[in-house]
Amino acid sequence: MRFSTAPVLLGLAGSSCASAIARRQANSLESCPGYAASNVKDEGARLTADLSLAGTACNAYGEDLTNLKLEVEYQTENRLHVKIYDADEQVYQVPESVFPRPDGSEGCEADHSALAFQWTETPFSFRVVRRSTNETLFDTSAASLVFESQYLRVRTSLPDAPHLYGLGEHTDPFQLNTTNYTRTLWNRDAYGVPGGTNLYGHHPIYFDHRGANGTHGVFLLSSSGMDIKIDDTDGQFLEYNALGGILDFYFIAGPTPKDVAVQYSEIVGKPVMQPYWGFGFHQCRYGYRDVYAVAEVVANYSAAGIPLETMWTDIDYMELRRVFTLDPERFPLDKVRELVSYLHEHQQHYVVMVDPATWRGDYEAYNEGVSRDIFQKTPDGKIYVGAVWPGPTVFPDWFHPSTQGYWDDQFLKFFDADKGVDIDALWIDMNEAANFCPYPCSDPDAYANKSGNPPKPPPVRENSGRPIAGFPEDFQPTGTSQRLLARQENSTGQWLGLPGRDLINPEYKIQNAAGSISNLTAPTDIENYGGTHQYDTHNLYGTMMSIASRQALLARRPERRPLVITRSTYAGAGSHVGKWLGDNLSTWHHYRNSISGILQFASIFQIPMVGADVCGFGDNTTETLCSRWAWLGAFYPFYRNHNGFDSIAQEFYMWPTVTEASKNALSTRYRLLDYIYTALHKQSETGLPLLNPLFFHYPEDLATAPIDVQFFFGDALLVSPVTEENSTDVSIYLPKDTFYDFFTHERVDGNGEWVNLTDVAFTTIPLHIRGGSIIPLRAEAANTTTELRKKDFVLYVAVNSTGQAEGSLYLDEGDAVDQPETSLISFTYDNGKLNVGGEFGYATDLVIKEVTVLGGEAGNSTGGYQTKEAASRTFNGPISLSEASTHSF
Ligand code: NOJ
Repeated sequence: MRFSTAPVLLGLAGSSCASAIARRQANSLESCPGYAASNVKDEGARLTADLSLAGTACNAYGEDLTNLKLEVEYQTENRLHVKIYDADEQVYQVPESVFPRPDGSEGCEADHSALAFQWTETPFSFRVVRRSTNETLFDTSAASLVFESQYLRVRTSLPDAPHLYGLGEHTDPFQLNTTNYTRTLWNRDAYGVPGGTNLYGHHPIYFDHRGANGTHGVFLLSSSGMDIKIDDTDGQFLEYNALGGILDFYFIAGPTPKDVAVQYSEIVGKPVMQPYWGFGFHQCRYGYRDVYAVAEVVANYSAAGIPLETMWTDIDYMELRRVFTLDPERFPLDKVRELVSYLHEHQQHYVVMVDPATWRGDYEAYNEGVSRDIFQKTPDGKIYVGAVWPGPTVFPDWFHPSTQGYWDDQFLKFFDADKGVDIDALWIDMNEAANFCPYPCSDPDAYANKSGNPPKPPPVRENSGRPIAGFPEDFQPTGTSQRLLARQENSTGQWLGLPGRDLINPEYKIQNAAGSISNLTAPTDIENYGGTHQYDTHNLYGTMMSIASRQALLARRPERRPLVITRSTYAGAGSHVGKWLGDNLSTWHHYRNSISGILQFASIFQIPMVGADVCGFGDNTTETLCSRWAWLGAFYPFYRNHNGFDSIAQEFYMWPTVTEASKNALSTRYRLLDYIYTALHKQSETGLPLLNPLFFHYPEDLATAPIDVQFFFGDALLVSPVTEENSTDVSIYLPKDTFYDFFTHERVDGNGEWVNLTDVAFTTIPLHIRGGSIIPLRAEAANTTTELRKKDFVLYVAVNSTGQAEGSLYLDEGDAVDQPETSLISFTYDNGKLNVGGEFGYATDLVIKEVTVLGGEAGNSTGGYQTKEAASRTFNGPISLSEASTHSF
């Protein structure tokens, strides 16, 4: 057993470690005494109390803390903050620099709050009750509170078969299992994103949806590793089992699911606005052998007539996979610069990957990091060395005050617009942090040199040898270097955390799919600059890298919005970056399951710029899967085809059906680009999600609660993909509402029933507009978003059953951090009258060319899906986008 260096354990019951261990063996959780509350001060908006251990310490997985404090704040009418922490304030708390706390200083009188805090003094337990219904939302009396040096337990009882969402990152159904289910949160590199395991991100928030009784949210502000157990033995419960930290709960009242989303965004921060072009289509793969292979893909997209907005390059561009280097043979600087110039001349963009793991060897990024002393250290003060793609690697310590400057400088040099790789955005990966070298990794060099470790890619693919259309004559492959793409064989105070803990082998074992918490990552006894340890901060690593990378992009191009796509996230990451869902497989399961993933991030975690690898990352895709996925991906906010190293090529032009499907999908997506950009703007201002699970719109219809293979793109568009292999049928749920087929404009009256759609070709997708919506579309699609921005608009007015509809359009310049001129135009329609209002700050000559009013009588069929011939009427504009107006049709 290893203990970290500081010897004394302050404020703990029990004495020496040896005797504590003996007691732990004898004691069990059942004997934990809980706490007694005293000195309760109830000041209306705020309540405080002392909590003291109410009996003999049980020391189940650590040592019980004797003295705790309770602090309850009614922060707003909808938000209750309940914090239980150690009286000595030694226990680790997430630093404000990573997670700024919401302002609750104004407070709210308890009786003005939608929630009530009720408590029992001995043994201490508390309940959170919804005042309007007197319903208990959270009740910790289900088991005694345990607060130990390395283990915390809180259990709440819940109603039977609850509808719970969140607690990610996971690839389980969007509505969580509620029997014999454990959600482990401990960020890890998770190839194949297996269900039932911990993945890349840490989001201890759940939404508890109780239909007509309302929805509420519970956020535990903690970065500690934890198992959240949900089961119905002994009554239904949800139980937190954490490795440390404090109990820092935010209860949010809703009462609608969208209200909960908004209130959660007030805690974690509103998502950051992304550049308009970021919504264009992105192509990527791991294993483009050289700059010519990349150029060939760009040329092939162009030849196929499939719009390509952004070309990406994986770690392939690096010399021996060392960050901030270019392979001089396969990606020589002058050719990379030519490629980037070509892309920019064609209004396209370029993105590359950067990993945190830095090769430990004699080169600039390492030497500079050493001289600034910014790499993570082992307990004996040496730089920690693990092994990732380049062989032995070191990892930046994002807590170090010099790391940001180091990172900025690397970016300024390597991504210099005039002399370096002039990227437009950034992809950051392996930031859990991933480490191939298993703990204790005592000999990373030997590990890295051992055959197959780190995994070596298969032999390089050859270039086609064909000339690349559109590129200069001298921009052609020069030969087939056998240089490996991979590592070469010859590659050489306060809240800081309790002292005295076993930071490597805590007695409580969370169900980390990687085994021990130090395995395949940076060891948990690494002391960060400032005195905290990876044990407590591991789950912040990816988000701290995200924040530093966004800052570095801003240092490089202060005036442009940075698009950063990360793999690892913590709560609040959406206010800095976007996210892709990591290493899925080319399977129908992962195609379907990606919807649960994008809904988790966009609708629950407030990270709306999200997408899965379209057509799948690992294994081989098929023509039909890739066709369907090309369509589904067109409704991910972040739309990127990405592929694994040894998978067959899957660019959209590889098969005729995929070519056609992707052209159709892209044409629809691009026409809708301003609609989704407007939705992102709304989320970034209000927290209202740009994607909506069905129950967000129809909370009282509990049939919608488990649905996670249909979703709303924006507020108005119901996406219902075909979900089964090689099928052309799909059963879709239509809530009781008016819908219109997006393509035919047929009216479809939903009856709250499942409806079978047949003959859905591989080149299309079922898409419905919700009655009551006005959708702005570009009149035509285009090859790039730059061209798209020159197109006029049209409006689809999809009336509800009483003839009304509304919608909005946000316009700005698209890429600048500061947008002095913006328009937020509102459209309302009421039985023949269209009103165009709002704010008109963005100067434009573009107009609304046409208004199509969708409406008409529904058919009489007895099934759930009643349709009527297209009954739309089109009216010619133009309608100005620069001033308010009214129109009668
Ligand atoms: C892991 C990432 O998840 C994947 O997308 C990427 O292609 C590989 N690392 C190689 O960089």
